[in-house]
Amino acid sequence: MKILITEPVIESAVQKLQNHFEVAVGSRGEFDNVDALVEASRNFDGLLTMLSNPVTRDVLASATRLKVIANYAVGYNNIDLDAAREFGIQIANTPGVLTESTAEIALSLLLSVARRTTEAEQQVRNHQFDGWHPTGFLGLELYGATLGIIGMGRIGQAFARKAHACGMNILYHNRNRIDEEKEAELQAVYMPDLDRMLKEVDALSIHCPLTEQTRHLIDKRKISLMKNHALIINTSRGPVIDETALVQALTQEEIGGAGLDVYEHEPAVHPELYKTRNTVLLPHIGSATFTSRRAMGNLSADAIIGVLTGKPLDTIPNLLA
Ligand code: DGY
Repeated sequence: MKILITEPVIESAVQKLQNHFEVAVGSRGEFDNVDALVEASRNFDGLLTMLSNPVTRDVLASATRLKVIANYAVGYNNIDLDAAREFGIQIANTPGVLTESTAEIALSLLLSVARRTTEAEQQVRNHQFDGWHPTGFLGLELYGATLGIIGMGRIGQAFARKAHACGMNILYHNRNRIDEEKEAELQAVYMPDLDRMLKEVDALSIHCPLTEQTRHLIDKRKISLMKNHALIINTSRGPVIDETALVQALTQEEIGGAGLDVYEHEPAVHPELYKTRNTVLLPHIGSATFTSRRAMGNLSADAIIGVLTGKPLDTIPNLLA
């Protein structure tokens, strides 16, 4: 059987698959378009895809031998799950193994925007540091500040734990309330009314998946409810925020700053974002640790091996459809 890994991933995953199948590896960006994926879905039994690969209905409909797709990500908004179900193609993702790494990047963004460390470091690198200054780079102290979290799944909770350790007060908005024990551990307060939460927070961090319901969840009106010094952190998916509205709010100093790891039209970045002062812009590196990427490779490879070697489907923990 033949497997395509759409672009190079950590070697251990490739080797694992090579122990069972003939494996081809694409090049960076080669399968970021429907046409290339349509072709691949006719020629391979399994695909290991990236979040930038659009696995649309057309791709799935033209699959003649494809049985399984493992997405090298926890997010799967690039895959039409309904179509996969319809055409009997199994889909897997990588839950639970990039929780801490992604929460660490969210914390790192929050700290650097709150304490303006990226701007401040630039001053030193530009040979402009001229000594301690009583009013230089004043920022938001996390200790005692209020954090709002949208999306209290695994990553949201891991981030809440880290923010709680920094002394922040935690509010959260989620489809459902989390269980009482977890709320008590994090001292997190459930806010079913998102507008109300937005008015109260000093910083907001987004951890929900991208769906039709969450696209542009944070838009011009929602941003306008926030305090002028409030910070927005996004490590989930870019389109959850209306990037044009965000840029406008940052430019007009209607909010205090933003830390972004993801973008609405990724990999394109809104040109005005480059000009904004209090933003920290990262290139989607939430899960970029050796530990997470190795585990993502293992999980994806195991799902492909499991499906193609006839393992009972209910024993493959990360199958979505
Ligand atoms: C994911 O897994 O969804 C991240 O965005 C990339 O690791």
